[in-house]
Amino acid sequence: MAVQARKRVPRFALDYLEGGIGEELGLQRNRKDLDDIILCPRYLRDVTSIDTSCELFGRKYDLGIGISPVGLGNMMWPRAEHILSSTAQRMNIPYILSTVSTTPLEDIARLAPDVSWFQLYVPKDVAIMQDLLQRVNRAGFKVLVITVDIPVGAKRERELKNGLILPFRLTPGLLLQVAGRPRWAIKTLRHGTPWFVNLDSYIDAGDTNHLSEFLTSFFMCGVTLERIKMIRSLWQGTLVIKGLLHAEDIEAVVKLGVDGVIVSNHAGRQLDAAPSSVSALQAVPDHLKRETTIMMDSGIRTGLDIVRARALGAKACFSGRSFMYGVAGVGDDGVRQAIEIFRDEITRTLQQLGCVQFSVMDHTWIDGA
Ligand SMILES: Cc1cc2nc3c(=O)[nH]c(=O)nc-3n(C[C@H](O)[C@H](O)[C@H](O)COP(=O)(O)O)c2cc1C
Repeated sequence: MAVQARKRVPRFALDYLEGGIGEELGLQRNRKDLDDIILCPRYLRDVTSIDTSCELFGRKYDLGIGISPVGLGNMMWPRAEHILSSTAQRMNIPYILSTVSTTPLEDIARLAPDVSWFQLYVPKDVAIMQDLLQRVNRAGFKVLVITVDIPVGAKRERELKNGLILPFRLTPGLLLQVAGRPRWAIKTLRHGTPWFVNLDSYIDAGDTNHLSEFLTSFFMCGVTLERIKMIRSLWQGTLVIKGLLHAEDIEAVVKLGVDGVIVSNHAGRQLDAAPSSVSALQAVPDHLKRETTIMMDSGIRTGLDIVRARALGAKACFSGRSFMYGVAGVGDDGVRQAIEIFRDEITRTLQQLGCVQFSVMDHTWIDGA
């Protein structure tokens, strides 16, 4: 699907999707460290029937994989956010809508009422934050995910080279790239230029900016524990923190009463020297894995990866690019196909390992445990 996506999506959008920060070593480390997790199979048991379901915050999902928030979703493929959310609803997996998404949050809540979670980049302005939270609550989202790993907007080589400016505007260089991708171009013309529609009432669409500058100016330069405490008191639903890598940080937010944490290095897009998500997951103390719902993303590409993470204590995994490749590479049916591939791989991996239930996979399957 990634190969097909590369043929259908203009270079600048593909670079935005695929790129990491710096030399992209963090990006590679996510994969390498996952590949190094060795599981030891247990045979001599009947594995005819496998239960792949996964319970998160009192709701049963069909699989232990969900869709990570990806900003500017409709720039990778027109209507991507519609396709991702409605397929997640049909296939019963979680879908996290980004603050910087390009579809009104109310539309997504209608398309995926049971499975959509809202990801919050925390605005500096408290009044704006409160207004946004009220909208999210009114729309019916039950899970709020605060992303804390963008204290400053990242300057990624590939994006700088392409000169991606917001609101999106076709420069001669970008026009050339678009000309080579007619299906993307026609669909984008039909469905409209991607824009941060959920922030429309708070920002001036006339201000052009590089993405990194916009993120730094509008959102908090470092989400503090005080602000998380404030959000905890305002938000009655489930609260998850995304982007933590250090055990002490996880401990601190658990003390504030958050319900879960997504261990993540933002797909290697923020700090090239950051530990891989899977190595950070390994370092989370057992008591925290018992006290809160630990999840992870960054680098997950196969069902085997999801089972590996589960063995290391992650209740569930998320992926951004895997599903975006599905929709960009195949179109309307691409997300369903990606989910089916994950389902098949999880099932076969569990059968091969001799574990009939995803939810009981644990560290005893790690080789040498
Ligand atoms: C193009 C792109 C945009 C992203 N936008 C957001 C975002 O708006 N909010 C957020 O919390 N994380 C964002 N992320 C990070 C993802 O939520 C997730 O952590 C990461 O994509 C997982 O790694 P994977 O894509 O390799 O599976 C983005 C990632 C990518 C690749």
